[in-house]
Amino acid sequence: MKVMCRNPLFYVVLYCAAQTLSINIESNPTANSESVIEVHLEKSVSLVCAVDGTQADEELVWLRNNAAVLLKEENKKGRSSVCVTPVLHEDNGATFTCYMVRNSTIRTSVTLNVTYCPNLSESEDVLVEQEAGLVLQCDILANPPVSNVSWTLNGSTVDLFGGGFSMTTDGSTTQLRVSSVERSLHEGTYQCAADCFNGEKRNKRFHVTVTEKTFKFPLMPMIAGLVVVGLTALLAVLSRWKKITKCCK
Ligand SMILES: *[C@@H]1O[C@H](CO)[C@@H](O)[C@H](O)[C@H]1NC(C)=O
Ligand SMILES: *[C@@H]1O[C@H](CO)[C@@H](O)[C@H](O)[C@H]1NC(C)=O
Ligand SMILES: *[C@@H]1O[C@H](CO)[C@@H](O)[C@H](O)[C@H]1NC(C)=O
Repeated sequence: MKVMCRNPLFYVVLYCAAQTLSINIESNPTANSESVIEVHLEKSVSLVCAVDGTQADEELVWLRNNAAVLLKEENKKGRSSVCVTPVLHEDNGATFTCYMVRNSTIRTSVTLNVTYCPNLSESEDVLVEQEAGLVLQCDILANPPVSNVSWTLNGSTVDLFGGGFSMTTDGSTTQLRVSSVERSLHEGTYQCAADCFNGEKRNKRFHVTVTEKTFKFPLMPMIAGLVVVGLTALLAVLSRWKKITKCCK
């Protein structure tokens, strides 16, 4: 009961002491509880940093990965917004920090998680000689990583055991290899396909044509032969030169 009779000033002082300055970032799309904003490649993110409480004219600074973001004069006091558009691959993992110029320990930040599908779309024509090696490669880098990668030849799953194929896949590429191409087994339309996290399927085609084996000019023995011929000629000239100079004395 006694508490209620206290001087109103008491409450005012209490209120002021409790009101430590803070700033917060509001974003679209919104950040999760770990301050991570998930956004798809080529979409946009808008960030608004605002000072809580009464000090509405506090000057604010934005950093992108510790580098200052250029702001217009009217976009600094009390409230400051930045927009990332379009969101690029290099924005993945980028951290945006907003802080108060007067006291830089008053800061808050958010990090972008840029989701994207593998960049597979165009098709490629490939010529390969009979008995030569063949390597087909697809870039499957994606965030989050692709869940399923497959290779087909003329629409059927590539026969890794019978067809002389080998396949290797890591987080960024998938490769299909043939060490010695045979037209009856290896000519046709290949396709690599990957499943993206959002359910999209991406693929790339290769139209592989097997050509006749051409006669390979034996370049290395040729060079060795030319060197020998050249050296012999040089030695011959040198020995002649000795004779010539001798006789000139
Ligand atoms: C900056 O703000 C922090 C947190 O509110 C506070 O503890 C600190 O004393 C302030 N520093 C200055 C120089 O005002
Ligand atoms: C980014 O978002 C994707 C999709 O929700 C998620 O799988 C991945 O773990 C997130 N990455 C980070 C670093 O938060
Ligand atoms: C794939 O289809 C093409 C065109 O129909 C055909 O010429 C080729 O022999 C086929 N390849 C295989 C390995 O069956």
